[in-house]
Amino acid sequence: MLRRLHPDQPESFAFTPANLAWAEAQIAKYPEGRQASAIIPLLWRAQEQEGWLSRPAIEYVADMLGLAHIRALEVATFYFMFQLQPVGSVAHIQVCGTLSCMICGAEDLIGVCKEKIAPKAHQLSADGKFSWEEVECLGACANAPMAQIGKDYYEDLTVARLAEIIDEMAEGKVPVPGPQNGRYGSEPKSGLTSLADHAAGRAPLNASATLAVEVGDTLKRIDGTEVPLRAPWRDGPSKAAKPAAKAAPKAAPKAAAKPAPADVAIAEVPEAEPALLKGPRAGGADDLKKISGVGPKLEKMLNDLGIWHYEQIASWGPAEICWVDARLTFKGRITRDDWIAQATVLAKG
Ligand code: FES
Repeated sequence: MLRRLHPDQPESFAFTPANLAWAEAQIAKYPEGRQASAIIPLLWRAQEQEGWLSRPAIEYVADMLGLAHIRALEVATFYFMFQLQPVGSVAHIQVCGTLSCMICGAEDLIGVCKEKIAPKAHQLSADGKFSWEEVECLGACANAPMAQIGKDYYEDLTVARLAEIIDEMAEGKVPVPGPQNGRYGSEPKSGLTSLADHAAGRAPLNASATLAVEVGDTLKRIDGTEVPLRAPWRDGPSKAAKPAAKAAPKAAPKAAAKPAPADVAIAEVPEAEPALLKGPRAGGADDLKKISGVGPKLEKMLNDLGIWHYEQIASWGPAEICWVDARLTFKGRITRDDWIAQATVLAKG
C-alpha cells in the first residue's frame, strides 16, 4: 500500500502547552545525542492530539529532535499506525480482517462501516465524524471479530452491535469497551471452566474496561491535561514514592473523595494514613485475595498494616492510596487493578 502525505495540509502544527511539556519530558529519557530515539512517542502524541499526522506535525517533531525533516517523514510513512490523512472527528474504526476475525464475520463488520461511514477505507463519513480501515491481527483473536476504536478494543462484535456502537458514539456516548456478548474476558463462551470460584467476587467489568470508563478519554483527542505529568527520570521521585514520612498528615478516610484515575492519585496528593485495625473484626478477616491483583503475599502485607476488610479498602481516597502504595513492594497495584472498585463490590456482598 502506498503511503503518501494527504494533499490537503494545515498551515501549521504546535503541541498544546501540556503536550509540549510531556514531549520534552520524553526527550529527557535519552542520553545527549540520542534524542532522535524519542521520535515514535512524539509522533504518536501529535497524532493523539490531532487525530492524524499532517506534514507540519511531522516537521514540527523533526525540528524538536534536531532531525532533518526527511528522517521523520520516513518514520511516519513507514508505520501503519500513523494516520496520514484526516480521520473522523469522533472515531476512526479499525476493523481486524485477519484469519480469526475473518472467519467470525469481519467482512460483515466492514460492510457496516461501508454502509454507515463511507464506501472506502480512510474516507470520512458525510458528517466528518467517522472513518474506518481494515487492519491486521490486533491480538484479540479469542474475541473475534473485533475492532479497535480509539484506544480500546470492542470485541465479540456482531453486525447489529457495531452499528449500535457507531450510533452511540455519534450521539457523544462512549460505549463500554471489551467483549460485547457478555463475556468478562476471553473465557470460553460457554462459561468458566477454571477459577470458577473467583467469578462471584470479581468486579463487574475487567480492569481495562473499568479504567476506560473512569478516564472517559477512550475517544477524545489528547491535549496533555488528562493526567498530570510525571517525569521521575528527570525530576526525581515523586513524594508519594518516597518512604512514608512519620509526620504525614492524617485525613479522615470518610472525607476522601472518590479516587481519581491512577496517576492523578499518585502524583497530586499527600499521603494520609487510612483507618487501620489491630486485628480482624469479630466475624473474621475478609479474604482480600478475592481482589484481583492481591495474592497471599500482598494480603499478608495488608494485614500487617492493619487492613483486614473490603470496606476498609473501599473507603480509600487518593491520599490513603498513596499511603498504602508507599508501603507495598508492588507499587501501583492499587490503582492499576482498581482495588477500590473491586472492594466496593465485595463489601456489598
Ligand atoms: S485475527 Fe482479529 S484479532 Fe487476531
